[in-house]
Amino acid sequence: MPATVIVGAQWGDEGKGKIVDLLAQHADVVCRYQGGPNAGHTIIVEGETFKLRSMPSGILSGKECVIAAGCVVDPGVLIEELDGLAGRGVATEGLVHLSGNAHLIMPWHVAIDQASERRLGKLQIGTTRRGIGPAYADKAARLGIRVQDLLDAKILRQKIEVALAEKNVWLERVYGVAPLDLEAIASQLEELARRLRPYVSDTSLLVDRALADGRFVLFEGAQGTLLDLDHGTYPFVTSSNPVAAYAAAGVGIGPNRIDAVVGVSKAYVTRVGEGPFPTEIEGDDQARVRELGGEFGTVTGRERRCGWLDLVALRYAVRLNGITSLALTKLDVLSAFDELPVCVAYRLRDGSESRDFPAHQSDFHHAEPVWEALPGWAEPLDEVASLDELPDAARAYVDVVERELGVEVSLIGTGAERERVLSPRGLAAVARP
Ligand code: GDP
Ligand code: IMO
Ligand code: MG
Repeated sequence: MPATVIVGAQWGDEGKGKIVDLLAQHADVVCRYQGGPNAGHTIIVEGETFKLRSMPSGILSGKECVIAAGCVVDPGVLIEELDGLAGRGVATEGLVHLSGNAHLIMPWHVAIDQASERRLGKLQIGTTRRGIGPAYADKAARLGIRVQDLLDAKILRQKIEVALAEKNVWLERVYGVAPLDLEAIASQLEELARRLRPYVSDTSLLVDRALADGRFVLFEGAQGTLLDLDHGTYPFVTSSNPVAAYAAAGVGIGPNRIDAVVGVSKAYVTRVGEGPFPTEIEGDDQARVRELGGEFGTVTGRERRCGWLDLVALRYAVRLNGITSLALTKLDVLSAFDELPVCVAYRLRDGSESRDFPAHQSDFHHAEPVWEALPGWAEPLDEVASLDELPDAARAYVDVVERELGVEVSLIGTGAERERVLSPRGLAAVARP
């Protein structure tokens, strides 16, 4: 019953989609355990680019896919995604299972996310404006509408009526924006409900049985560790828990069912949206990394902020997730630089140095990186087919990551396409510990 979690070890966009797609080839079931269409997971197969929002990345390998209870689902976006995949010849029929306990992102959640960010102005979080925060807030307040409510047209209509009566007051009086129309929303939702009903199932039971039958299950996180609601750089975080432990809670299985945790990290760092970022690159090199790495948001198209590798933050991610091996992506992007600074510790306000991530928000805000300068390799990695063929300096860069984290680097990304990865132990061994 091997079960492996794949978790973002930074602020998202680490290349989880590509790594899950690769490992899914050795799996039977792939589950998304939290988040929603704030995620954008890019996979490039034979020159074709797929950008998945809610769908687990196993869908491209024809695996069974679960959207679990811990997720929030925008029904319109999900239908669009299903239709888009079908239009490109990707089979989804009978493969997609949607938890009845997942919460729905309703039109008012999107409207409130947008209005709230606008109102915050300079203090905004820089959300993806997809209604994620307001949907999870209603879930916690026990006011949410769930996927299972789609199964009964009468109940659905009632719940929309009750919720909208209150949300329209907020939209008009608090945010000063136009109220939403009950009839329009109710009929739109009824149509979406008709389409989604066949996908609704008891996904906790499905995953439990798959594991009991000795089938191999992958758990795909969205966002990343530093965007975790409890352990990330609050308040500049998302509203769910990307950390690996939540895979069990989000799916509805026991934590003892998880065998391994693969962390995914870029060989540098990016962050979209606001919030402190100690290793953010100063000067022209930031734009160079952005251009070379194609660092523009999948969901919003925003420029991603770029920084040098932060080993303090990564050490924190190893601790929080129990990472058993690391996938280091986009090493090829660093080929352009003569020297590569990596942050090995933070200098804190009191002048002390710490290798541990600060527990207090203000300490993190004021943390300054302690750099170690590593030599670059100044040659492309396009032709590199095995670990032995990596330039010495690139190999040394990977060695420093392993030394500083005390964790094996089991996968190295050398390009965006599916086959551009080095896996010294083989993909099957990483996927099935
Ligand atoms: P995710 O949200 O974690 O799945 O990551 P995104 O898909 O949002 O962003 C990662 C980007 O890097 C995508 O455009 C990928 O195609 C690309 N990518 C993934 N791995 C590599 C790699 O090893 N090298 C390069 N150059 N690009 C990569
Ligand atoms: P994937 O799965 C990168 C960021 C937003 C914002 C904060 C809160 O592709 O790695 P939200 O809309 O979730 O309320 O926004 O979180 N964010 C992401 N950044 N990758 C993502 O997903 C993200 N999902 C949310 O930019 O700073
Ligand atoms: Mg992404």
